[in-house]
Amino acid sequence: MVRSSSSEIIASVDIGTSKIVALIAEINGDNELKIIGVGTEPSRGLKKGVVVNIESTVDSIGKAIKQAERIAECDINTVFAGIAGSHVRSYDGHGFVRINEGEVSQEDIDGAVDASIAMKIPSEERILHVLPKDFVIDGQDGISEPIGMSGIRLEADVHIVTISRTAEENIVKSLYHCDLDIQEVVLEPLASSMSVLSQDEKELGACLIDIGGGTTDIAIFKDGQIITTKVIPVGGDHVTKDIAHELKTPVDEAEIIKIKHAATLSKLNGTDKLIDVPSVGDREARKTDRKVLASVVEQRYEEIFEVINTEVGKISLESLRAGVILTGGASKLDGAVELAEAVFGCDVRLGYPKPMSGAFESINGPENATGAGLLLYALEKYKSKPADLVKQKSSAPLFQKIQNWFSSNL
Ligand SMILES: Nc1ncnc2c1ncn2[C@@H]1O[C@H](COP(=O)(O)OP(=O)(O)OP(=O)(O)O)[C@@H](O)[C@H]1O
Ligand SMILES: [Mg+2]
Repeated sequence: MVRSSSSEIIASVDIGTSKIVALIAEINGDNELKIIGVGTEPSRGLKKGVVVNIESTVDSIGKAIKQAERIAECDINTVFAGIAGSHVRSYDGHGFVRINEGEVSQEDIDGAVDASIAMKIPSEERILHVLPKDFVIDGQDGISEPIGMSGIRLEADVHIVTISRTAEENIVKSLYHCDLDIQEVVLEPLASSMSVLSQDEKELGACLIDIGGGTTDIAIFKDGQIITTKVIPVGGDHVTKDIAHELKTPVDEAEIIKIKHAATLSKLNGTDKLIDVPSVGDREARKTDRKVLASVVEQRYEEIFEVINTEVGKISLESLRAGVILTGGASKLDGAVELAEAVFGCDVRLGYPKPMSGAFESINGPENATGAGLLLYALEKYKSKPADLVKQKSSAPLFQKIQNWFSSNL
């Protein structure tokens, strides 16, 4: 790191299907974050949240990192990186230990959590997060902080998130190719929830839905703990493709039309009735009624919301007292909140990342929930184990680095 400062520097990379965002922040003596560098680059090597072209991904990550480093006036060595995609799976785990010496210690908690993940996970998956949901002492449940409590038997209920080793390897490889070491790979919906949800919402019960370009990420909280995470391989790109198909226009033009003119039917106010639609090939541009666009878009959003309703299964979104919080780039569609309210039958709000000191205007929108959340995740890690964040860059060759990553993250 070039910058000579007493502050610690952390960095995150949100490797999205539409864009890559690199953020660099300082942690000051009061453990507060200040963003000092931002780099955003269109993403070219991903489909539905997973890397499908290493070269293009490396190119986009490299450019985003360089931009952020230039603004921050420092070089970064290691990053926290997000991961999503339909390969993400989640399981419920349960385990218990006998409490040593009659009072719960950190060792007992670790033992109960370890016991709760003693289940058979397919060999192609790796456990990414083990998130405690509840602790039970001698039959008494609803304990979130068991340390120091008396008892004989400690049980842990956990939410286990696994990812595909192949999908992870392609992200890890892309970052190593950019000459970056990896501090941690983090589930994107978990990161987004850290930047968008308040503690009150998590306590009351809330569902965060991050609709990106290629994936829709879901995280549900109750009593302050995460109880469900899901990644569904649909997002704004599907809306764009529907527009391209229905209006017979190239996909790039459909994307422009969507951002400029799309809204749900109830948001149309009768003005701007006709929009210009470029044709494919040498054919002349045409005029189309904005209602046609609105109806295509509304249909796809409704479908995405219906899929979410099915995916969350037995959890009724109506039962979550803080309702649904929509975030991600595709949540910016005019009318998305009202449409979601109609489908989910609960309150819905648009989720922006919590304001951060030094924040650049360009990262204040819902599409940056994950990037900002990755930094907040990193801050939590730093607060609990500051020494772990100061990682020396490895000079090992690439294949060795990848092997080392997987042997230390079995
Ligand atoms: N004003 C808008 N109205 C509707 N859609 C929008 C608007 N602005 C951006 N989008 C859509 O948001 C999507 C990109 O969102 P975002 O930047 O959150 O995706 P990402 O994080 O790169 O992708 P993912 O998380 O799915 O891998 C694109 O489909 C884009 O068309
Ligand atoms: Mg995203």
